[in-house]
Amino acid sequence: MSYKEVLELLQSEPSLQEFTVRGWVKSFRSNRFIALNDGSTIKNIQCVVDFENFDEALLKRITTGSAIAVTGNLVASQGSGQAVEVAVSKVEILGDADPEEVKLTVLSPKRHTLEKLREQAHLRVRTNTFGAVMRLRSKLAFAVHEYFQTNGYYYMHAPIITGSDAEGAGEMFRVSTLDPKNPPLTEDGDVDYKEDFFGKESNLTVSGQLEAETYAMGLSKVYTFGPTFRAENSNTSRHLAEFWMIEPEVAFCDLDGNMDLAEDFIKYVIKYAVENCQDDLAFLEERLTKEESMKPADQRSPMPLREKLDFVLNNQFKRVSYTEAIDILKNSKPNKKKKFQYPIDEWGADLQSEHERYLVEKHFKCPVILFDYPANIKAFYMRLNEDEKTVRAMDVLFPGIGEIVGGSQREERYDVLKQKIADLGIDEKELWWYLDLRKFGTAVHSGFGLGFERLVQFVTGMGNIRDVIPYPRTPKNAEF
Ligand code: 4AD
Ligand code: MG
Repeated sequence: MSYKEVLELLQSEPSLQEFTVRGWVKSFRSNRFIALNDGSTIKNIQCVVDFENFDEALLKRITTGSAIAVTGNLVASQGSGQAVEVAVSKVEILGDADPEEVKLTVLSPKRHTLEKLREQAHLRVRTNTFGAVMRLRSKLAFAVHEYFQTNGYYYMHAPIITGSDAEGAGEMFRVSTLDPKNPPLTEDGDVDYKEDFFGKESNLTVSGQLEAETYAMGLSKVYTFGPTFRAENSNTSRHLAEFWMIEPEVAFCDLDGNMDLAEDFIKYVIKYAVENCQDDLAFLEERLTKEESMKPADQRSPMPLREKLDFVLNNQFKRVSYTEAIDILKNSKPNKKKKFQYPIDEWGADLQSEHERYLVEKHFKCPVILFDYPANIKAFYMRLNEDEKTVRAMDVLFPGIGEIVGGSQREERYDVLKQKIADLGIDEKELWWYLDLRKFGTAVHSGFGLGFERLVQFVTGMGNIRDVIPYPRTPKNAEF
């Protein structure tokens, strides 16, 4: 018996004979038309049964949500809406689904809120929306690897458990095997981490950057693509406690090269999705348009999803220094009318997402790369500029998303880096290996981190980051 997937069948000629297709029943109409889906595509295959020739008890078990195997021949469809359908000769029930219970789940064929779908995250991938989002997520991940692998980068696996705080922000999840009720104590009464599994304090990584830098200093061009963890208490539609980050790191590359790389990379993966995920994007575009039409007119996105993606592909990202951005913001209407929650009155202010979105969505109306930020609002490893006030940092800002990429040229000068670490009160001993890089053949190098879920959000048009990762981890939530 030859098994076929739904996607294969929909692309086949009606002459295909004697095959079996397996999937989950979306609907069973008039005791005759089964809409079957196996997740290989957003489209269902219509399977037509001649109910006169089937056992009634068997037909009763073909219910929404059940898993079945259908054997038959492919024929040209009589009805509109599909080119081919399966003329069914045999149905086998693989797994029943009780209609009374299905009714209470998100498998029932009606519109469910995204909140409800989140509560049933174990079932939501069977809905059209989540099937589409997760197929896109997978394709985008493939495109990420394809981009780097075909451009001479090596995939580097940064450790998940580390002893350092790459961002110096202290937002880490501790990793420990000590008994929380009865931990060993030092003479001073503090928890004695020397007794812990690793013999020192350790945590889940917030970024693979520091380790990626060590590899860039040997393999020249590397990238990481793995999970990262932040214990920041941000309950927003853009933050997760566990998210996937892509971090290229490149030797002999300065900030301009870094900006070129970020722009080229982002455009490549978006183009890949546009070209390879047409059915899913068409569905998500329609979904988004419906959702937008329920918003007040002034909050609607001016472009349908695919037009927005094309717009990004066809326009250069605008490169603007932090100092220019502050001037624009200071003189902006919302600032003068005190509409910003955090008014901008002077150079040095940290930019909030309201400011980033103003620049991208109202002022420039295209993706923006901001660079040369004040040193004191950025991490310790960024290269100090001649003015000694700003660092070679860059953030890529996207419409509807805000910051999608954060990166920088790294401080490659031993003395400057050592001083910076001391000034910020970071324990130099923890970073001995990182400082070593600046002693043995140091070189200009740069890199960035792209939040994979924010990219998936942009491409799928999903408003909440919890809806672009299978099992979101957020404050007070680690269900499933
Ligand atoms: O700007 P961030 O904190 O930069 C770094 O971690 C650098 N070490 C990267 C590097 O230069 N190699 O984070 C980078 C990106 C952000 O722009 C954002 O897209 C994403 O990671 N990000 C998050 N995504 C989801 N949830 C969170 N809590 C995130 N925090 C950052
Ligand atoms: Mg950042």
